[in-house]
Amino acid sequence: MDTDLSLAALGTLETICRELAVQAGELIVRERPAHLGVAATKSSATDVVTVMDRRSEELLMEQLRARRPDDGILGEEGASVEGTSGITWIVDPIDGTVNYLYDIPAYAVSVAACVGDPAGDWESVAGAVFNPVTGDLFHARRGGGAFLRSTGSEPSVTALFVSGEHDLGHALTGTGFGYDAAKRAQQAQTLTRVLPQVRDIRRAGSAALDLCAVAAGRLDVYYESGLNAWDRAAGQLIVTEAGGVVRGVGAQPSRELTLAGPAVLVEALHGVLQSVTD
Ligand code: IPD
Repeated sequence: MDTDLSLAALGTLETICRELAVQAGELIVRERPAHLGVAATKSSATDVVTVMDRRSEELLMEQLRARRPDDGILGEEGASVEGTSGITWIVDPIDGTVNYLYDIPAYAVSVAACVGDPAGDWESVAGAVFNPVTGDLFHARRGGGAFLRSTGSEPSVTALFVSGEHDLGHALTGTGFGYDAAKRAQQAQTLTRVLPQVRDIRRAGSAALDLCAVAAGRLDVYYESGLNAWDRAAGQLIVTEAGGVVRGVGAQPSRELTLAGPAVLVEALHGVLQSVTD
């Protein structure tokens, strides 16, 4: 995996992540149709796509093709371009599509620049997650720390740090559920084991924002199984740059499991999750 990127190169990638997340985020709010419907379904009848998921991904594709013609692109709605530069952009044009459909203000555009093989072993080196309703722009680049930039009426920049909580019993814990009914049944079973051991559970409906909430200490810890690369590519870097740990069943997060938070809580929750499968 090419990890040899200069500070200037990382800075450029982070700037593009920020600019494109904001541009696409503004588009999905500004041009949201009055009667937004479901344009298509994917893995199950509840896994929906709206016309704005597609338009947002088209905008991200166009911009990336123009600005970074040698890079690869992988997007939730089908974007798939092989690059030659070693950088692949992993984008989620709307993370939290069901929230977007219901006009619940917890959805985001996620843009990450990654190195490695997007179908296998990859690593994010820059990323941004933008909630266009709240104006919260979370961003990070490798080695540069994680930040929350408020783009609202009173702009501000805050450095992010994960929670200082040490006790799983006091940990506000985020999670999410997939779209497949059988998978959800398993996730519900796991939840019955986790819920009695933590402060409480939150299911906000956007994995990208959940990871950013961990980075900002708004959640103590987070876990979910079944995430795709685009759900977590930007958010997981933002967590690690905020001093947290992101792991899976093994050291790396995977489709099987993504677990994020301060190291001590991640290890404690990992123990609980392991006991479910034992
Ligand atoms: C979903 C959201 C949700 C998570 C699901 C994801 P989408 O992404 O991130 O919070 O629980 O696993 O698929 O479909 O809204 O882009």
